[in-house]
Order: sequence, then C-alpha cells, then structure tokens
Amino acid sequence: MRRPFIAGNWKMNMTAESGTKLIEELKPLVKDANCDVALCVPAILIPAMVKAAQGSNIAIGAENVHWAESGAYTGEISCAQLKEYGVKYAIIGHSERRQYFGETDEGVNKRTLAALAHGITPIVCVGETLEEREGGVTEKVIYKQLKDGLAGVEDVTKVVIAYEPVWAIGTGRTATNVQAQETIAFIRKTIGELFCPKCAEKVIIQYGGSMNAKNCKGLMAQPDIDGGLIGSASLKTEFAQIVNYDNYFEN
Ligand code: 13P
Repeated sequence: MRRPFIAGNWKMNMTAESGTKLIEELKPLVKDANCDVALCVPAILIPAMVKAAQGSNIAIGAENVHWAESGAYTGEISCAQLKEYGVKYAIIGHSERRQYFGETDEGVNKRTLAALAHGITPIVCVGETLEEREGGVTEKVIYKQLKDGLAGVEDVTKVVIAYEPVWAIGTGRTATNVQAQETIAFIRKTIGELFCPKCAEKVIIQYGGSMNAKNCKGLMAQPDIDGGLIGSASLKTEFAQIVNYDNYFEN
C-alpha cells in the first residue's frame, strides 16, 4: 500500500509573516490527515516555516537543491544547508525551473542523486507542454525525463515523482482524471521497465497542475495517483481541504 502524499509548492510567494500565519491556521486543520503532508517553501523562509510547523504533521521542503557539497555556485542552496534545518523534501526539475532557468535532465539527475545521498526525498517533476501533448509525444518526452533524470538512482522507491503537465500549471486547466491516470500509469510502467516492477508498485506518484479542493477527490480516486503537488491552492487554507480529500463530503 502506498501512503498518499500531498505537498504544497509555494513558488515565489509568501513572507515569513504570512507563511507563519498560514501554517498556524493549517496545523489544526490537517492534524488528522490520512496522508503525508508537506509544504515546499522559498529557501529564505525555511527557518521560519520549520519553526512554525514544529510539533505538527506538516513537513517542510525546499523548492530546489544543488548537487555540490559547497562552492562557487552563487544563488544555490546545498543539501547540507537544507539538512541543518531538518528539511525533508526538495522539489527538483519543476517545469518553471526548466522553462525559465534552463534546467536540464542532466542537472535534475545530479540534484536528485545529491538529495538521495543526503537523505532528502526528491520530488522529481516531469510533464509535457501543450505542444508536446497535441503533437502526440507526451510519452516520449516523459520517458526521456525519467530515464535521464533518474539515471543511476539505486533505490527508486526513495524518489517521489510529480507528474505536472505544463499546460495545467497555473492555468486553471486541470488534466481530466482519465488523462492524469493514463499518464501516471505510463510513468509507473516506465519506472518498472527502467528499475523493477516491484519498485514501481511502491513509488509515490503525485499529480500537479491546478489541483484544488473541488477536483482533488476525483484525481485521488484514480488507482495510480498517490497524491498532489499543489501550487496556488497551497497558499490558502484550501490546502487543508485537499489534504483531507477523503473526509470532506462537500468536495
Ligand atoms: P498550480 O496548482 O498553481 O497550477 O501549480 C502547480 C504546480 O506547479 C505545483 O508544483
């Protein structure tokens, strides 16, 4: 059985003050969740958010991590720097990093291997653009992202994968339950081929892209969807409704 995992991605939003306030509000609302819960926050907010989430079931994650131990990498954050604050997760290869900051599958791979070596769970993002979906190359694109991004990973069950179709991110256009399930089943099958079928059954695969309190229940009901990576809906208490997707009858 795979334990569901709902994570937020604050992207470049919130301040120490507004973030602390939100976490204080969320804590009682998510305390009985039947899933793992995390908020991935901007690096500068990590110390304050770790403090705010202390004693709760909300884990704090980072939005990226560099592969080197230390050195001349201006603007980057190392695994050791994250570990110092007890950070458990790091998003890697988000489409916004790929699109706006030139991150490649090779970089995703190095970051993933470094995170694993330091006991940080990488949330590795994959997904196709609208052009790629319409061109019928979704599976080809995702296969390459998985093969190159996860090359050399020894225990793939320690990796979380987030399927985020680029056309569904921040657009309000969610993949249908069927589209998300189909592609995530393909991802699981590919993990089985690249690693081993038994490992593939254990890997947590999230859906991300305009997931919200209204559509989360349908997405989470799909057999291969184990969780969500939530952008804008993680900036408000709506995140708690998603975390409690199995308890909110009005959803
Ligand atoms: P939205 O939920 O705002 O579409 O963002 C999804 C996302 O990119 C999470 O990483």
